[in-house]
Amino acid sequence: VSATRSDLRAPPPLDWDGQRLRILDQTLLPAEERIVELTGAADTAEAIRRLAVRGAPNIGIAAAYGLAMEVAREPGLGSLERGASRLVEARPTAANLGRAVQRVRWAAVKAYAEGGAVRMAAAARAEAEGIHAEEDQASRRMGELGAELLAGCGRVVTHCNTGALAAGGRGTALGVIAELADRRPVKVLTTETRPLLQGARLTVWELRRLGIEHELVADGAAPGLIARGQADAVIVGCDRVAANGDVANKVGTYSLALAAREAGIPFVVAGPTSSLDPAAATGAEIPIEERDPDEVREAGGELLTLPETPSRNPAFDVTPAALITALVTERGVARPVDRRTLAALLAP
Ligand code: MRU
Repeated sequence: VSATRSDLRAPPPLDWDGQRLRILDQTLLPAEERIVELTGAADTAEAIRRLAVRGAPNIGIAAAYGLAMEVAREPGLGSLERGASRLVEARPTAANLGRAVQRVRWAAVKAYAEGGAVRMAAAARAEAEGIHAEEDQASRRMGELGAELLAGCGRVVTHCNTGALAAGGRGTALGVIAELADRRPVKVLTTETRPLLQGARLTVWELRRLGIEHELVADGAAPGLIARGQADAVIVGCDRVAANGDVANKVGTYSLALAAREAGIPFVVAGPTSSLDPAAATGAEIPIEERDPDEVREAGGELLTLPETPSRNPAFDVTPAALITALVTERGVARPVDRRTLAALLAP
């Protein structure tokens, strides 16, 4: 990769030294850049659950290493199965998590059948490293394809955080924006992303390092700004894409898609094929994570509302395929986003 503005001095979100995984604790950003070392399935699952490591592709990569570390520590089928269930249960919505854990699990089981417990650890580690390399590569390709698609767009809206903190390489949607910004002037309107402020805390932190012009807006402001003609396109990431093209992504995505449709501007989703789930027929079959209602009632530990106020905290919503102009994957761009185009994209 060329030394573009993407590479400015940020500690890597995920750093694997062959034995231990170090992550940048995203719950503390942007105030503090603290590195946390993970050693097995339990602490990796906990880091995923509390969003110290997050974003669909990166939770897959972290979980893969978590399982590899677990079987390195305690080789055997028992620890493999316990570790795998623990990791898969950490978060339900991103397809990448279950897929990555399953891949490492199968590689380990196969190695066990062929050579016993000793072989397991090396096989699990190799599989996890393979997943990491694939996600890096996928991000690079999505960046190129997405930048071509959005070549005419200088003002883009994005939501949540989809950069290197969330995925391999320079990220998914933010990777596309970074590549676009290498090619032409770009201004990004980024949403805060309530309740956990991935936009305000993380995307702004990344855009600053990337040297890309940006403005932060409240989630509720973005649709109105789109309606007033202040954006040429919306681009977001995805956590799970159903067989018919419905997309689960960070809560608040759906209202941006509606606004884009109404304003007649493209609504583009970027995500690796590891986020595609052909087993979910439509978005209605995608499990939506409901997080602690305190995350809505509080911010930075401070109560925002009346104590005990009943609250809901769905972390994701589903945008119907009909509202999506294009889905950018490393295997190509699905346009229109429908069952046939996605099936062709996934064909071997
Ligand atoms: O709850 P998070 O912060 O893990 O949610 C992340 C998102 O919704 C991203 O848009 C999605 O994972 C795609 S990231 C490359």
